[in-house]
Amino acid sequence: MPPEFRYSPARSGNTTGSHIPPSPAQSVHGRRNSTHSGQFVNDYVSKAAVYEQLQGSLRPLIRGQTDFLANISNFAALLFNSLPNLNWAGFYLLRGTDLVLGPFQGKPACSCIAIGDGVCGTAALQRAAVLVPDVHAFPGHIVCDEASQSEMVLPVFKEGRLVGVLDLDSPLPARFDEIDRDCIQQLLQTLMDGTMVPEFRLAPPT
Ligand code: SME
Repeated sequence: MPPEFRYSPARSGNTTGSHIPPSPAQSVHGRRNSTHSGQFVNDYVSKAAVYEQLQGSLRPLIRGQTDFLANISNFAALLFNSLPNLNWAGFYLLRGTDLVLGPFQGKPACSCIAIGDGVCGTAALQRAAVLVPDVHAFPGHIVCDEASQSEMVLPVFKEGRLVGVLDLDSPLPARFDEIDRDCIQQLLQTLMDGTMVPEFRLAPPT
């Protein structure tokens, strides 16, 4: 059974909220309790189900729109407002041997990261996802928001060519696991399949 986490469909503003795992009985069936205001306060569903819902939200969001900046901007906003315990979500885009800040949600961040530097540059260099359970233990980690405790960076490709990276930060340690990685990779695939990328944004063909 996949790990469970607390999921709130609407962003509560509590980005440092505690991680409250459900009991096994709750996690099998999911549980929804509503407050008097009608908001769900306890909505335990599996990560896989959350990401399935996100796929369902992403498709109509980009339907009929292929513009690169429009679609990746909405993608960053969708993740930031849908996934629990994030304090930063956004893109760094390839520009020569650098990654330049792209659309994001969260606090202002460093605007340029060299390929190979920090978590973002490492993911771009290796063309592979990097999961960092404790940012303080990652040599060369670049601090943008001091609240960040863990981080996951995924390379973004269009037809096999690197476009940049997606960076997610959390105020909780070890927030990201292989389920997050695999499901967000699938979301990125959907995103990039429906998005035109200008030639100048793509790494040279290998
Ligand atoms: N921590 C990143 C820098 C980007 S911010 O977290 C938004 C890194 O080490 O590459």
